[in-house]
Amino acid sequence: MNPYRLPRSVVPSRYDIRLTPDLTTATFTGVETISVTVNEPVREIVLNAVDITINAARIAGERGEAQEGHATADPEHERYRIEFSAPVAPGTWRLTLAFAGTLNDKLRGFYRSTYKDPSGVPRMLAATQFEATDARRAFPCWDEPDFKAVFASTLVIDPAHTAVSNTSVVSETVEAGKKVLRFADTIKMSTYLVAYVVGELEATEPVQVGKTPLRVWCVPGKKRLAAFGQDIGAASLAFFESYYGLPYPGDKLDLLAIPDFAAGAMENLGAITFRETALLVDEAQATHAELERVADVVAHENAHMWFGDLVTMSWWNGIWLNEAFATFMEMLAVDAWKPEWKRWTSFGVSRAAALSVDGLHATRPIEFPVNAPREADAMFDVLTYEKGASVLRMLEQYLGADVFRQGVRDYLERHRFANAETGDLWAALGRAADQPIPAVMNEWIFTPGYPLVSIRRDGGALVLTQQRFTYLGGAEGQRWKIPVHLRIDTGTGQPVTRRLLLEDVEQHVDVPAGARVLVNAGGHGFYRVRYSAELVATLVERLDALEPIERFNLVNDTWAATLAGLVPVNEYLDLTARFHDERDRNVWSAILGSLTTLNRAIDASLRPGLEALVRDRLTPAVTALGWSARAGEDELTRQLRGDLLRALGTLGNDAGVQARAAELYAAHAAGTNPATEIDANVLPALIAIVASVGDEPRYREFLERFRRAATPQEEQRYLYALTLFPQPQLVEETLGRTVNGEIRTQDAPFVNRSMLLNVTARERAWEFVKANWDTMDRLYPKHALRRLAEGVTGLVSAELERDVNDFFTTRKIDLGGKQLAQYLEQLRIAVALRERERAALEAYLRR
Ligand code: BES
Ligand code: ZN
Repeated sequence: MNPYRLPRSVVPSRYDIRLTPDLTTATFTGVETISVTVNEPVREIVLNAVDITINAARIAGERGEAQEGHATADPEHERYRIEFSAPVAPGTWRLTLAFAGTLNDKLRGFYRSTYKDPSGVPRMLAATQFEATDARRAFPCWDEPDFKAVFASTLVIDPAHTAVSNTSVVSETVEAGKKVLRFADTIKMSTYLVAYVVGELEATEPVQVGKTPLRVWCVPGKKRLAAFGQDIGAASLAFFESYYGLPYPGDKLDLLAIPDFAAGAMENLGAITFRETALLVDEAQATHAELERVADVVAHENAHMWFGDLVTMSWWNGIWLNEAFATFMEMLAVDAWKPEWKRWTSFGVSRAAALSVDGLHATRPIEFPVNAPREADAMFDVLTYEKGASVLRMLEQYLGADVFRQGVRDYLERHRFANAETGDLWAALGRAADQPIPAVMNEWIFTPGYPLVSIRRDGGALVLTQQRFTYLGGAEGQRWKIPVHLRIDTGTGQPVTRRLLLEDVEQHVDVPAGARVLVNAGGHGFYRVRYSAELVATLVERLDALEPIERFNLVNDTWAATLAGLVPVNEYLDLTARFHDERDRNVWSAILGSLTTLNRAIDASLRPGLEALVRDRLTPAVTALGWSARAGEDELTRQLRGDLLRALGTLGNDAGVQARAAELYAAHAAGTNPATEIDANVLPALIAIVASVGDEPRYREFLERFRRAATPQEEQRYLYALTLFPQPQLVEETLGRTVNGEIRTQDAPFVNRSMLLNVTARERAWEFVKANWDTMDRLYPKHALRRLAEGVTGLVSAELERDVNDFFTTRKIDLGGKQLAQYLEQLRIAVALRERERAALEAYLRR
C-alpha cells in the first residue's frame, strides 16, 4: 500500500469552499463543506493537506446527526487525519473544515506574486498553481486526479480587488466591508484544476467563441499586450470544438498573465494562468519565435480543456495522456491558424530534443510508475511531452488523420467528466481504425528508447535493420513496430512513397538499382536513420530534393551518430558545408545547435578555428539575406535572418557583424534612422551580439533596460543579454542577481542555466552554483533546480565532469525522477566526444 495514496472508504462529490485571502499580511483563512459518500463504517477520514492548519472539523448527516472531529497532521505524507469518537456510518455526509495558511512565495499552492504598477509602486496579487499535488496547500481535499468533484467557490476580498476562478461570478455582495464573490458550480473535475487569482486585475473585452466569452487578464497597464493572445485563444478554442466534436466544457474562458509563475502556463478549467511572456506580447515588436511561443502555449492550454480537464488520466503515471495530447493538438491548432508558420516542421526541433534524451541509458518509458509527489513532478519532461507528442503524430500518420480524430472523439465522449488510462485510448482508436492498436503502440509507450534504422543496398534489394539507438552503446534485444515511409526516386517519373511496418530485425525491400532512397519520408517517424556510405552520397548530392524536415533529420541524425562515435566528426563537419543554400530556420537550428555543442567540447586553442568554420558556413546565407527585411518576405525568413546574424556575431565572432550590430543598435537606442528599418526579428540578435562584446557601461545600460522594459519579451532579451558579457566581474554580478531578489525566481534558474552553458561564464557559474545550491533550493520554485541542473551538460571537460559528479554524489542531491542521471550521461557523452575527436578536430580546425 502506497502511503501517499488515500483510502477509498470515503469519497468526495462536492466542495463548497469559502476563502479569505489577506494580501497585506500574506495569509488566508478558509472554511469548506465537503459532501462525501462513506462506503464503509469509519472512525477516521484521511485527506490531503499540507502547510495549512485545520482548526476545526465537524461531520453532519442528512438527518441532523453530527459530531466534532479531531484533526491531526501527517506532514510527511501531506495528509491530515480527522478522527471521530463514534463511527461514521455508510451514507452521505457533510464534512466541514476550518483552516488557515500563508500566501507563500514559492509559486505553488496559494501564493503571492509581486509587480510594480504603472507609476512604479510595488503591488501584490494572489494566485494558485495546483498541478501536480498542491491543491492540498490551499484547502484540505482528496488531492488525487480520480477523486473528481464539483467545486463551488466563494472568495472574500478587498473591495478594490477583483477575483477570477474557474467559472462565472454568480453573485457579488458586501459583507463587513469586504467584497464577496460567489462563483458558479464547476463541472465534475480534479482538484489540480481549481484556480483563484485575486488582485487589481484588468481584463479585455470578451470575444465570443460559440457560447463562450473569452477574455485576457493582466496587471494594470498591460492590456495593450493582450490582443495577440486573445486572437489565438479564440481561434484555437473554435478549432478544438470542431476537432473534438464536443462543446467547450466551461461557462467562460479567462486567460490570465501572472507576473510570477513557475511553469509556462496551467490549464485550470476556465481560468488558464500563464507567465507573462507566454501570453502578453506586442505583435509589432516581437520576433516570430516570441509570437510562436504565445500561440503554442495558448493553444496547448486550450487543448487541455478537453484532454486533461474533461477527461483526466487516472493517475500521474498516465500524465502523457494529458501532456502529449495537448502538445500534439497544439501543433494541429497552430498549424491550422497559421499554415505559413509550418509548425510541423519546427516540431522537428522538439522531436529531436526527445530523441536526444531517449537515446540515453538513463531514459525512461513514456508511462512510468509514480508514487510520491516528487515523482509526479518529475514526469513533466521531454519524454512525456515531446516523445509522447511525436509517437502520437506517428500514429496519426499511420492510421490516417480522420480515423485518428474519430478515435479521439470516441475516447472523449466515453470518458467525459471521468478518468481514463492508456488502454482506454487504444480501445477507442482501435474501434475507429478497426485494428488492434496495442500491438503497434505498446513498445513506444511502455519501453524506453527508440530504434536506429540502418539501410544498405544488397543487389536488387534494400536491407533495413533495426536496433536500439544509444549514444554509449550496449542496449540489445529490443524491437519496435516501426511505420517506415520510404521515398524512392528512380530518376524516371515522380518519386514514389512506400509504406511498410518494420517488425523484424531485418527486412528486404526490392528497389531498382541506382534509385535514390530516403528513409523516414515526411519526417514523422520517432527513430533515427543510418545510411550506408553509398546511399547517403546520393541524398547529399540532391539536398534540394528533400523537404526541410527531411534535411533537418539528416543533419540531426548524422550529428547524433557523431556523438555516438558512429560517424567521425570531420565527416559531419563536411556535411555542414553543403548547406550554403539552406534557407530553412529549423535546418539551420540543427546545424547551429551542433556547432554550439562542439564549441563547448573543444580546447580553447581551437576556438579561433571553430569560429572561422562558423563564418565559412554562415556567411553566404547572411550575405544573401542582408540586415533588413525585404518587402513581402515571409516571417520565417525574417526569423532566420535574426538567428543567423546572432550566431555569426557570437559563435562566429565575426568582427564585421559585431561592428555593424553596434552601429544599428546605436541607431535603435537613439531612435534615429535607420532604426525604422531594423526588423523586430533582428533587434534581439543585435542586443545579444552587442552584449557578447560589451563593456561595463554597456552592462549598466542593459541592466537599466531590463528594469524598465515595456514588454515581457523585451525584459527577457535584456535579462539574457546580461549573461553574455565576458568580463569576469560582470559574470559575478549577474550571478549575484540570481539570488538577491533582483531577478524573479521564475527566471533566475534559467539565467544560471544559460551561464553554465556559456563557455566564457561556465566555470565561474559552476563555482557559484555549488556555493549557493542550498540558497537556490530554498528560494526557487520546486521544478527549478532540475532546469538549472541541465546547465551542467555544458561543463565539458574531464576535470569539470569529475567535479560535477563529485558534487552531486557527496551532497546526495536527488532531483526526483531520472533527470539528473540524464544530464550526467549527456555530459559523459560530450566529454567522450572531446577525448575521442581531439586529434581529428586539431587537424580539421587548424587547417
Ligand atoms: N500542465 C502543464 C503545467 C504544469 C507543468 C504543471 C509542470 C505542473 C508541472 C501545462 O499544460 C503545460 O504543459 N505547460 C507548459 C507549456 C506548454 C506549451 C508545453 C509549460 O509550463 O512549460
Ligand atoms: Zn500541458
